[in-house]
Amino acid sequence: MQENISLKPYNTFGVEVSARYFADVQTLEELLQALNYSKTQKLPLLILGGGSNLLFTKDFDGLVIQLNLKGITEEIISENEVLVTSKAGENWHEFVQFCLDRNYGGLENLSLIPGNVGTSPMQNIGAYGTEIKDTFVSCKVLNLETLVIEEFDHEKCNFGYRESIFKRAGKGKYVILDVTFKLTRKKHSIKTEYGAIQAELKNLGIENFDKLSVTIQDISKAVINIRQSKLPDPKVLGNAGSFFKNPTIPLSQFENLKQKFSIIPGYPNGNFVKVPAGWLIEQCGWKGKQIGNVASHELQSLVIINKTGKASGKEIYDFSTMIIGSVKEKFGIELEREVNIL
Ligand code: FAD
Ligand code: EPU
Repeated sequence: MQENISLKPYNTFGVEVSARYFADVQTLEELLQALNYSKTQKLPLLILGGGSNLLFTKDFDGLVIQLNLKGITEEIISENEVLVTSKAGENWHEFVQFCLDRNYGGLENLSLIPGNVGTSPMQNIGAYGTEIKDTFVSCKVLNLETLVIEEFDHEKCNFGYRESIFKRAGKGKYVILDVTFKLTRKKHSIKTEYGAIQAELKNLGIENFDKLSVTIQDISKAVINIRQSKLPDPKVLGNAGSFFKNPTIPLSQFENLKQKFSIIPGYPNGNFVKVPAGWLIEQCGWKGKQIGNVASHELQSLVIINKTGKASGKEIYDFSTMIIGSVKEKFGIELEREVNIL
């Protein structure tokens, strides 16, 4: 247990804030000890993974538990299927690589997403036509009230777009300890629907591809290239990925907007349409714009960056509020933050 430590190395925005107490927890016993300490001392609690989806707007006057439970196990359940279970503290991308090395398919489109495996169910991480809900089987969680370990299956997690029970009714009530995925061993389901993947496969020399000749390793390589071409590396420029969710609006509202903004993009889904927030933000003139220490990324306006490395969380938060105001004024759409604000 450390006291008064800087959280700058533990959040990908690189914001300078401190934690009153900090514990690096490597076993379940250590987790229970730390939880007991926070309970007896009546300290607010924060479970920390890779710190890649949160924004500290002030010092944390409580106990931060960095969950470093490690280990991956596998169980072959049929000729074509394997269950792979990873403890919460494994790095997500290293876990994806572990699966690719064994030719286990299903996570390749999610290559290079920062953060830890234990956090992946929180917002049902997704990219390039895949979400973890597509391969998720279950996760073990510690109930913070009863200290009993429970198993949450797919249904209980109530996954949605960047959503799960852990962000809603179960918020702050559970620590996710491990996650199990069902992956393929031979007959992989190759997902190339996302336009940019097809273009990148061509760049990689995989022309005239059909789904039989493309490997899961090819998909991973293409996804990594696309991500590196437009998303800033947090080690170089502080950020937390997409700052906002892509809004879903009623079809009727979209049709009204289309009359005014004929090129507005949208992805229909029943009576609703998902509109890319990056496009809305760019249209409001924010792409690449800097105010003080904060900017919208010049290649992806949905990503807010700590441009000078000296931004405070409050500055970043205020910048996001200005973006929300602009988009609301121009399009009548209220953007919702994806990043967890503390
Ligand atoms: P943290 O930031 O440490 O924690 C996030 C929240 O989860 C906090 O509220 C924390 O208290 C809680 N939490 C953490 N671990 C646990 C646990 N074990 N049990 C209970 N609660 C917990 N996300 C996507 O979905 N798709 C992307 O394509 C994507 N791209 C990104 C690109 C960049 C450059 C960056 C910086 C981020 C990106 N993200 C993306 C967001 C981020 O990577 C994910 O949300 C990731 O799952 C966060 O993991 P983490 O361990 O860093 O979480
Ligand atoms: N766009 C613009 N201007 C911009 C940015 C985007 O016009 O500045 C347009 C693009 O031209 C494209 C559309 O918006 O037509 C979508 O852009 P992109 O493919 O880059 O994806 P996104 O919707 O901005 C989402 C996720 C990302 C995920 C990618 C790939 C959300 C909130 N974000 O971004 O996830 O990696 O798709 O699947 O759903 C994250 O959650 O942190 C994250 C990075």
